[in-house]
This record gives sequence, C-alpha cells and structure tokens, in this order.
Amino acid sequence: MTNPASAASTGIASPASKSAPAGSLAQRLGDAFLTVRHETERRAAPLSPEDQLVQSMPDASPAKWHRAHVTWFWEQFLLGDHAPGYKVYHPDYAYLFNSYYVSAGPRHARAQRGHLTRPGADEVTAYRKHVDAAVIKFFNETSDDKLTALIPLLEVGFNHEQQHQELMLTDILHAFAQNPIPPAYDSDWRFPAPTISGDAWLTLTEGIHTIGHQSESFHFDNEKPAHRALVGPVKLARNLVTNREWLAFMEAGGYEEATLWLMDGFAAAAREEWQAPGHWRKVNGEWQIMTLAGLQPIDLDAPVCHVSYYECDAFARWSGKHLPTEMEWEVAARAGQLNDAFGIVWQWTRSAYAAYPGYRAIEGALGEYNGKFMINQLVLRGSSLATPDDHSRVTYRNFFYPHHRWQFTGLRLADYGN
Ligand SMILES: [Fe+2]
Repeated sequence: MTNPASAASTGIASPASKSAPAGSLAQRLGDAFLTVRHETERRAAPLSPEDQLVQSMPDASPAKWHRAHVTWFWEQFLLGDHAPGYKVYHPDYAYLFNSYYVSAGPRHARAQRGHLTRPGADEVTAYRKHVDAAVIKFFNETSDDKLTALIPLLEVGFNHEQQHQELMLTDILHAFAQNPIPPAYDSDWRFPAPTISGDAWLTLTEGIHTIGHQSESFHFDNEKPAHRALVGPVKLARNLVTNREWLAFMEAGGYEEATLWLMDGFAAAAREEWQAPGHWRKVNGEWQIMTLAGLQPIDLDAPVCHVSYYECDAFARWSGKHLPTEMEWEVAARAGQLNDAFGIVWQWTRSAYAAYPGYRAIEGALGEYNGKFMINQLVLRGSSLATPDDHSRVTYRNFFYPHHRWQFTGLRLADYGN
C-alpha cells in the first residue's frame, strides 16, 4: 500500500445521503459498519501478536487494545443500550477496554494497557467477530424507525473507530521507532508528496466569518455552535513548513536558544532531550526519520512531521512569524487557499481547545467524548496521512497537549506584518 488511508472510505449510510447505496436501511448500515470494521483489521493485519501487545509510552496504546476497545464501544453503547437481550461477550472486557468513560464504569489504568498479555490477539479477533455478527443481526431485526433514530449514535461509532485507526498507526510507529532494528510496518509505504502551487502567502483581509459546523451532516459536538468571528488581516503560508526549513532552525541552534521558547516548552525539550523532530535519528552523521516504511533519509522538500506545539511555537518565533488561529485556518481552508490542508500532517494552531460560545456536551456517557478535554490542549486542524478517508472536515477540531509529537503533526505559519 502507498497510503494507509487509501481503503478507509466508509460510505457511511444516511437516508439523507444522495450517495447512499441501494438497499434497505439495515443493509446500508450493515455495509457501512463492516467497511469501518474491515479497515481496522486491514491496518492491524501487518502486525504480529507481539507487535499488537507493545505499549511504548503511556499515551500510546497497543494495537490489540485499540481493536478491542472500539469493539467494546459498539457493545457498550449500541448493543448494551439498544439490543434487547444482548449479553456481553465476556464479563471482564468492559473493565479492560473502557478507555475514559467514567459513566460506563471502572476501567483498567491507561498506562498499563501493555500489560494485558491476555486476552490474546486471537481472542480479540473472536470478540470482534462476535460483536460484528451481533450488530448485523441487530440491524436486520430492528425497525427502520428505530434504526433511523440511532443513526447519530452509529455515526459516532463509525467515526470513533476511524479515530482509533489513525492511532493504531501512530502508536505502532512510535513503538517501532524505539526498536534499534527499525521495523517497517509496510516497506512499500511512501510519505505523500506535498503540493507546491500559488504564491507563498495568501492574504485574509479583515472580515467577520462564520466558524464551525453549519449543517446537520455528521460532525462532533465540539464543532458547534457555529458562530461569527472577526478574522484578519493576516497572511497565511499556503504551504506547510518543510524539513529543509526545520533543519535550518536546528542548524541555527533553535533547540538550544531559550529566548525562542515558552518556558514549559524549553523544560519539555530539556526533559525529553529534543534536538530534532520526533522519530529522527542521526545515522553516520546524517539525519534519518523513522517512518511506516522503516528508517528513511530525510526528504528536505517534505513537510516536517512529528513536531510538538512547543517546537512549532519556537520555530515560528525564530522565523519572525506566528502560528495561525484555528479560525484563520478554517476561513482560508474553506476558500480552498491552503495547500495540503488535508492528508499529510495535522497542523498546530495557537488556539486553545476550548468550547465554542454556547457549547454544551451531548447528554449521557457520550458527552464525555470531547467536552471534558477542553482544557490545557491546543487545536490542530486538517488531517494527516493516517487519517481514514471521509474522516476529514474543514470544521474538524483535533486536539493534543502541547508536548505531544507522536502524531503526524506539522505546521504552517501566519504573518501579521510585525
Ligand atoms: Fe476511544
């Protein structure tokens, strides 16, 4: 494969969708469900049982755990709540595979997911098959009215599993990057080629724009309410920052110059001994990067990847520029003005991950999905090379802590003329 996301399209069924395939609602939902489920297994297929167990840091989870957790999600929130008479596959699995849903009961410690040698990968496969069959049976035995009412929940389930599909790749890459003999997830994988076109900078004149999701098509709750915001004047870089530009920052002593850094960032850089982006290794005096295809030479023209917010903030200061806000990014992306807004690296913005005006989390356990994380994190916009197809939106708000850099994260710059 050349792109892990290439086969990830879900064709998520919606009665309102013009592109919905023919057939009954149950069939369409079943097709969409199995498409997502198969993509998870397609991504896990190159991984041995040993690969699937490793947890290389507390923020990363074993592939086996991801495969089981997304299955628990269907069992907990669809079958358990809506399928009459459904009995859970195993009484311990809710404890093992609940991630952070306090409303759904106690759970195993996140940092100890790699200790779960049992159940084995084969047992997780059996669990997945059991739940797959139960969900299809449920679709086939449930009225269209009830299924229609469940579509919002189903869409959350589809999108939730897609999020874990991306994490499976970033987490195994982090694990492989710790291995002295750098394994390849897929030796045929290639970093996507960047787009170079148009002027280097685009101008957003001052204006009031609507920010956030405006229709009833699928979106996460954190993308609403749509609201008006003053944006500009600002110039945004049309292109992503490249490895060539990042190397210039490194060679200019960017990682050592305290005045470029936020205090917490400089402390993180010292603590974690950052001298280069994540997954870079110096081999015989040359920088190389650990990729899904194993260790590769640095492509100077490729967008820089695996950089934290702290590093991006320092880079922007060194450049005499800034990071954009998420509103500026959204206005420019909506106008089709950004090269590689989607599909290579998530782009850090300097916007705090906070509630939009009037935001309320949805009711019930799924209200824990996004809202409770709205503190101390930064928004990233766009999508990455590992994001499944049809999981990208111009209003999508990803979020990570400022020291995180194991995701496929990069940046573009903003210029306010000062
Ligand atoms: Fe999850």
